[in-house]
Amino acid sequence: MKYRLILLAALGLAASQMFFVKTGLTHGDVQPQAVDTEGLEALPEEIALENPYRLAGGEQYELAKKIGASAYNSNCARCHGLEAISGGIAPDLRMLEDGEFGDEWYMERVLKGYSQNGAYKMPPFAQILSQEAMWAIRSYTETQPRPE
Ligand code: HEC
Repeated sequence: MKYRLILLAALGLAASQMFFVKTGLTHGDVQPQAVDTEGLEALPEEIALENPYRLAGGEQYELAKKIGASAYNSNCARCHGLEAISGGIAPDLRMLEDGEFGDEWYMERVLKGYSQNGAYKMPPFAQILSQEAMWAIRSYTETQPRPE
């Protein structure tokens, strides 16, 4: 009898740990990943108003999408969903507006994050990602196919 209780307690503990992992209580604590933007044109300190790699087009834009995909997966996917497909925790970034208006909105959020009642729901990335990495991520999400 005593043995069974211990076993049950152990099972309960294991289950609750699995629960924590599954529900992503790990959100805030995942370390942000440095992004290697080698090959992308370096940007001036001032934040651009429009995605400079989309404006450049060609190989720069292609490289930006590629770098952006991996930067997205290591920094944003845990909330915004793998491959930019939202699972509902945070907005689907494929649905942001195209072009300059969407760029501005995107950059504002990424730089400053989003807080509600004093708690960050999305961390600010201003000190974490380079501007090059931020636009690379935008290049990736803006070219992922939207849902039908
Ligand atoms: C800890 C979870 C979390 C992480 C990590 C995160 N976000 Fe967010 N993000 C959110 C939430 C929650 C919102 C919704 C805030 C709101 O209600 O406007 C949001 C909103 C946004 C918006 C505005 C979307 C819209 O439709 O208005 C953008 C753009 C955005 N995030 C980009 C990013 C990018 C890019 C990254 C990675 C560099 C990232 N986020 C990482 C949680 C997160």
